Amino acid sequence: MRGEIPNMIRKFPEHFLWGASTAAHQVEGNNVHSDFWLMENINGSSFTEPSGEAVDHFRLYRGDIGLLTGLGLNTYRFSIEWARIEPEEGKFDETAIQHYKDVLEACKEYNVTPIVTLHHFTSPQWLIQAGGWESEETPERFARYCEYVMSKLGDAIPYVCTINEANIAIGIKKIMEKHQSGGNAQVGINTGMMTRMQNYYAELGKAFGISPQEINTFLAPRSDQGMEIIFRAHTKARDAIRQVCPTASIGITLSLYDFQSVPGGEDHAANELYEEFLQFLPYLQNDDFFGLQNYTRSVFGPDGMLPVPEDAETTQMGYEYYPQGLESVIRKAFEHLNKPIIVTENGVATDDDEKRIAFINRALEGVHACISDGIPVLGYMHWSLLDNFEWQLGYSKRFGLIEVDRSTQKRIPKRSAYHFGSIAKNRTI
Ligand code: BGC
Repeated sequence: MRGEIPNMIRKFPEHFLWGASTAAHQVEGNNVHSDFWLMENINGSSFTEPSGEAVDHFRLYRGDIGLLTGLGLNTYRFSIEWARIEPEEGKFDETAIQHYKDVLEACKEYNVTPIVTLHHFTSPQWLIQAGGWESEETPERFARYCEYVMSKLGDAIPYVCTINEANIAIGIKKIMEKHQSGGNAQVGINTGMMTRMQNYYAELGKAFGISPQEINTFLAPRSDQGMEIIFRAHTKARDAIRQVCPTASIGITLSLYDFQSVPGGEDHAANELYEEFLQFLPYLQNDDFFGLQNYTRSVFGPDGMLPVPEDAETTQMGYEYYPQGLESVIRKAFEHLNKPIIVTENGVATDDDEKRIAFINRALEGVHACISDGIPVLGYMHWSLLDNFEWQLGYSKRFGLIEVDRSTQKRIPKRSAYHFGSIAKNRTI
């Protein structure tokens, strides 16, 4: 097996993109016009803690990009925050544009290639009040914002991802349905959870000034029409960006588990691949690249998804530590969508940095094997550059290559950061 050949030298292509990812809301801080800000700060919030100042990347971005380049990386994937650019519908904030211009300028000074995401989970509060991700008007609104940003900043953006993990609501819907359906011994727990959720949604409705049923944030369970709206938002944005910025390479990112089966589970695994990926292929045909994000695998048996085996190693997120999943997902994605691939996210939540080092090694061995077989993988972005705000779970889950002491905002690169950087510098694993 490949992983067992100790002295084999694997060299990556010369222009390979070596980088790390962040998302605006998770690192910048004080994203006050976003829907998440409201959701985090109301009574009975389902978030373990609010994002607050995050890791103050809004102020400290230059030093962070300097650290990234100092490690030996050459690419930075970050997101532009719609709620900062368009805090009120139709009113674009020039100071926010200037901020991201400065971030892009810092990338240029440090010789770092930017990969920019235009929507990473958070939306402006006004969008939610106007129907959010179930409204027929959202594709148009999103495309207008993207066109505006790219007309102002596009010259400095070689790679742009319209929407991060456009398929994520499918998984969220399944989790919600599972909880709602309950099950014998678990009914008590689920009823309690549902009541808390209902109360939370009632508060949220008041805060947004709409009814709880109308709250359609990006991460809320989505109807089939809602899924279509998200993908139409992508194609509309892509076409608008092409008009104003024909030089930018445009893609989307999807979250894909490595779907596997044991005997009898083949149809479930195939169905999952269809629901999470294949059904969306028609929307991706005119993209320039595919942004692939993978964190683990899920295994299916005759009755559906199997639990993580008891003896399996798990991450802080509770899912299986499975770096070899990346290779298999890249192969599957390329088989069905014959386009250049950028791994836009891959990583592990752990306090054991040796585990992160081993994860990076195994993931990159897989990427290298794919490239050797002729699959055009253009780059690998590790999630994440910095320990950051892990959405509902707050700051307790640590995905970063760089630790942050939030009491001082001091950055402390981990051993894994130097390790990944040296692989990047030598292009060798
Ligand atoms: C998201 C990130 C998130 C990461 C780790 C991805 O689904 O794009 O925002 O922090 O996974 O859970």
